[in-house]
Amino acid sequence: MSKQKAQEEIQQLREQLHYYNEQYYQKHKSVVSDLEFDQLLEKLQQLEQEHPELADANSPTARVGGTVTKDFETVTHRLPMLSLGNTYSTEDLMDFDSRVKKALGHDEYEYLCELKYDGVAISLRYENGTLVQAATRGDGVQGDDVTANIRTVKTVPLKIKEKGYPSSFEVRGEVMMPLKEFRRINEELTDIGKEPLANPRNATSGTVKMQDSSVVASRNLDCYIYFLHEEEQSAPAEPVGMESVKSQSEALVKLREWGFHVSENYRRCRDIREVNEYIAEWDEKRRDLPVETDGMVIKVNDYSQRRQLGSTAKSPRWAIAYKYKTESAQTKLKSISYQVGRTGAVTPVANLEPVQLAGTVVKRASLYNDDEIQRLGLRIGDTVSVEKGGEIIPKITGVSQENRPEGETIRFIGHCPECGGELVRKEGEANYYCQNEKACPPQIKGKIEHFVQRRAMNILSLGSRTVNALFKAGMVNTYADLYELTYEQVHSLEGFKEQSTRKLLQAIEDSKKMPFELVLFALGIRYVGKTVAEKLARHFGSIEKLEQADFEALVEVPEIGEQIANSVMDFFKDDESKTIVERLKAYGLSMRINEEEQSQKGEQLVGKVFVVSGVFQNYSREEIKQAVKDYGGKLVSALSSKVDYLLAGDKMGPAKKTKAEKLGLRILSEKEFADLISEE
Ligand code: IVH
Repeated sequence: MSKQKAQEEIQQLREQLHYYNEQYYQKHKSVVSDLEFDQLLEKLQQLEQEHPELADANSPTARVGGTVTKDFETVTHRLPMLSLGNTYSTEDLMDFDSRVKKALGHDEYEYLCELKYDGVAISLRYENGTLVQAATRGDGVQGDDVTANIRTVKTVPLKIKEKGYPSSFEVRGEVMMPLKEFRRINEELTDIGKEPLANPRNATSGTVKMQDSSVVASRNLDCYIYFLHEEEQSAPAEPVGMESVKSQSEALVKLREWGFHVSENYRRCRDIREVNEYIAEWDEKRRDLPVETDGMVIKVNDYSQRRQLGSTAKSPRWAIAYKYKTESAQTKLKSISYQVGRTGAVTPVANLEPVQLAGTVVKRASLYNDDEIQRLGLRIGDTVSVEKGGEIIPKITGVSQENRPEGETIRFIGHCPECGGELVRKEGEANYYCQNEKACPPQIKGKIEHFVQRRAMNILSLGSRTVNALFKAGMVNTYADLYELTYEQVHSLEGFKEQSTRKLLQAIEDSKKMPFELVLFALGIRYVGKTVAEKLARHFGSIEKLEQADFEALVEVPEIGEQIANSVMDFFKDDESKTIVERLKAYGLSMRINEEEQSQKGEQLVGKVFVVSGVFQNYSREEIKQAVKDYGGKLVSALSSKVDYLLAGDKMGPAKKTKAEKLGLRILSEKEFADLISEE
């Protein structure tokens, strides 16, 4: 291909993909199938690789990351990134309002209230409509250049589509990890025996500062924008027809037009009374948002009034933050229990004197690990504060220094509470581990539970109580034993009548059809989570090839590091694991990749054609599309008379609905879809 031809094609692909991204992430419209999108992206990647001279840092391929930054460069902010004064009460807010009124000399001003997003502040600079720099706040004067990482954030436009933007401008906002994503990542981390992330905000700041941008890309961060600064131009570049914005509310409208993710939850308030109402309204409602917020930011709306008010060295006089009170309660620490997980990691849990907190009675709190106990300097009998964050289980946030009981800080146990085995904490690890892997009951049961879980072999009739019963009765010691269970054995368990016995045995039988990558994940090799298992399965193709792979071959696989490589090798070196794998093979489990059969779960949707639109409660968009395919359905992107079902989530455009109705298509809700695929 000639260079010119390549250039044209690259240009065309970039525009097309930018357009699809914009439709999908900013307008929530899917105008192309995922498959088609991936194919176009791959084509672009290929062409860019062949023509490195045509590189563009803002190509849609930047979204997948791949750039490695060793040390982040320090950049100086053109305008310092100030912080905000905090208030916690209506009185404080009234004081703020009085100061504003006094400084302006009248009460002809209005406020704009926005939620205070609890993430990581970011500054984005655009030149001629193209993202040129993303920087963290740092100390407010200088921050880190994290551009490559931020380019992977799908809601940050790499190029502005709409016209009318100034040739040079800066926006600021908050990078956030959505709660759903936070939980998903933690599920994966726990799967592979790693420490979960403490909270969404720390998780975000850790992610923004990662060296490998492809890992950042896999974490699906979001970015909310709330600030626009047009830079003064000595010589205006192109005539851009920019009408300067005069207020925060105008800025928010413009920012949204240009494709930034601007929260819908802001309000113009005529006076402080309305501000208070808005604050009260969101105290509860904010808990239903997809991201964490910790307050409200109250800003004078008009820019000329803002200039009149000015700033102190640290914060503007025209804005203030109102922080919601985190609900906390005080109670006594009764004792500590130690839980042993599948990987042998021992986690301390605080047992508390029951106390009422945010509508529930709290009896237990997370303590994470020994460092946390030492940091708090906990003693049994201490009065502690507990808070509820984004997580379900509350955490201990402080210890009252008054009337402390005598004695020393709690010492972590030296032996496993379940099997008496020795506990060891290796360098660089946060947890103590029980070393008695083969004979420690919770580790054995944990491995079986991991094997049967929905995300692995999906043997749902096997809950943890049944696993426990099977283990206690000596019928199952490893997951391989499941495939030798007899009718009599299961039937002898308490609660197993004929029907439930048959159902369980059938579910075990059905699991033999699970694809290789899920079997590999189910084996429970340390550090081999679902994604890693898929990569290894696809790369090596079969268990034999994987078993034979040496260290070099393993680390050659993208995203497989030394830790995973060593763990895989250790697993296949172990005689017991080898026997188990041989047995699973003999029972007929898939031990090689099979593209065709891959993940077909049922026949309920065979012959049916689907269009998927909107956002869903229990599935990501990818998952629901996968589910359609898993049950034999076919996906298309456009509505036509050939389509059977429009699978409609929230936020679906009204035009789509009308069109579907005109064509007489059946519109399925998420619930109806779930019912359809679970039909026997
Ligand atoms: S405006 C001059 N608006 O809160 C400061 N900040 O304590 C302009 N934040 O560093 C900030 N949500 O990281 C503003 N809607 C919002 C915000 C917000 C969260 C953060 C931001 C800032 C910190 C100030």
